[in-house]
Amino acid sequence: MCGIVAYIGPKDATPFLLEGLARLEYRGYDSAGVAVAGRTGGIKLRKVKGRVADLAAAVPARFKGGTGIGHTRWATHGVPSDANAHPHLDNAERIAVVHNGIIENADELRAKLTADGAVFRSETDTEVLSHLIAAHATEGVELEDAVRAALGRVVGTYGIAVLDSEQPDRIVVARNGSPIVLGIGEKEMFAASDVSALVRYTRQVVHLEDGELATVRADGFRTFTADARTTHRQPSTVDWEIDSFDTGGYEHYLLKEIHEQPTSVERTLSGRLDERFSTAHLGGLNLDARELREIRRVKILGCGSAYYAGEMGAQLIEELARVPAHSEPASEFRYRNPVIEADTLYVAVSQSGETYDTLAAVQEIKRKGGRVLGVVNTVGSAIARECDGGIYLHAGPEVSVASTKAFTSTVVAFALLALHFGRIHDLSPADGRRIVSALQALPDQIREVLDQSEAIAELAAEYAGSAGMMFIGRVRGYPVAREGAQKLKEISYVHAEAYPASELKHGPLALISPELPTVALVPDDELLDKNLTTLGEIKARSGRVIAVAHKRPEDRLVDHCVLVPKSEPELDPLLLNIPLQLLAYHAAVALGRDVDKPRNLAKSVTVE
Ligand code: G6P
Repeated sequence: MCGIVAYIGPKDATPFLLEGLARLEYRGYDSAGVAVAGRTGGIKLRKVKGRVADLAAAVPARFKGGTGIGHTRWATHGVPSDANAHPHLDNAERIAVVHNGIIENADELRAKLTADGAVFRSETDTEVLSHLIAAHATEGVELEDAVRAALGRVVGTYGIAVLDSEQPDRIVVARNGSPIVLGIGEKEMFAASDVSALVRYTRQVVHLEDGELATVRADGFRTFTADARTTHRQPSTVDWEIDSFDTGGYEHYLLKEIHEQPTSVERTLSGRLDERFSTAHLGGLNLDARELREIRRVKILGCGSAYYAGEMGAQLIEELARVPAHSEPASEFRYRNPVIEADTLYVAVSQSGETYDTLAAVQEIKRKGGRVLGVVNTVGSAIARECDGGIYLHAGPEVSVASTKAFTSTVVAFALLALHFGRIHDLSPADGRRIVSALQALPDQIREVLDQSEAIAELAAEYAGSAGMMFIGRVRGYPVAREGAQKLKEISYVHAEAYPASELKHGPLALISPELPTVALVPDDELLDKNLTTLGEIKARSGRVIAVAHKRPEDRLVDHCVLVPKSEPELDPLLLNIPLQLLAYHAAVALGRDVDKPRNLAKSVTVE
């Protein structure tokens, strides 16, 4: 969602703050700001509506100070504006606060603080924190104690960093539902909401736990709880490569991440396939074969692309393990007082491991005694830690807001789970072997699809101006259609609808016209004839058809066709999806969109 950075050390904080914010910008990008404790006392503050580059242009050369905090925002309370941008100050301009998350009792606190004389300058919930901390930071009170006292009155979620011009030898950070990571340098310390801001400066990090605070000084840090008990945290080493956070010569992160899929799939598979027993080994499930055999149903939960990847996962589990499986948006599940059953396996899917709706769903299931596995990319993230076990994707960091490589790796992880699950049920060794070989072949097959990027770019340029696009697929193809439509709308802003191909004639056929082209998924499987019939129905209504297929349908049925290599039927959706990623990417480029940072969105949505 939003991004936080902080620095304390012998150097000037500002260059790190601006660099770190640029790296975190994918998390939120409607406004940004920095505050430093000036060498001559007081707080220097700059904050602007717009991008980090706009902030950098607004920061004067003489913006010096060795202690500072910064923020990049995705608006929740109040429109994007200079005033609503973080950091927020108290009225004496002594305390500066940056915050991710939501303060639920902000209105009530605001009323009390106003009655006590505070004058609010923004519409944000965050500003109550600066006034509240200032109210507790009376003569002789240490900043950490003022922050603890203030947070004791707060209901909600937060990751915060606090700067005090009167105690510039420290920054206080706190975490409750929104991540905070400390970075340990040489006689300097960093903090951020995400390691991507830190990897250029240090690999030694400490992830705060929920409910934990830290006082960070240039020469070290101390972590403690809300009731002032000291906690002891060992640093861990980040193993992500620095160049994972660069565009690596590609025009956009999205294109780079699409092209990384052969290697990210290899990493997801690495060490997990067992050719001898035609199965998969998943070390982190924390479920033995007996426990797995007792599972009668699988419920998969995720948001956005994670939900659609879960739909593909549910089909894989039903097909290979013959256990009923279903995917549902975590954002809906958590609000409908779901029935939690002991013989259901719950699986939470999240690239970031931070999505609040998914985390809340996991917590609700656990409160009711359910067992939850995580299919997560970010190691040590909140959802990963909350789950009883799971599968890490190892896809590497994903920076572009629209998910591509993490989506594909999630489906691969589900294929591994379904294979493992199937082989302890009644999936035959021959069928197991079939899936193992097909998984091994995937990276090269993905490369074959990626080689068609230029041809797909031409198609995208031809169709990008359409009023909208219809995506259709049958059974295994339907989640592909949904993800394809999602990708197109989120980055190109072209309206896109996804329908089961079987449902077209029950309503949406009325929409078909030359202005509304259809992207049809036409795998060479047992439903091929049915899909070809649907294409005929579209063409008979003057619709235009782009088929994504294994074999080119007759010319009378399609206007264009993108061919993808054939996998096993259960895994075909993975490959059929790749051209749709390229189609969305190239359409967005053709329309001049901000591909990596589409309007109104953010990479991880850490609020409700
Ligand atoms: C946001 C992003 C989507 C993403 C979803 C789930 O809505 O814009 O692209 O699919 O969150 O994110 P997660 O990190 O939980 O997979």
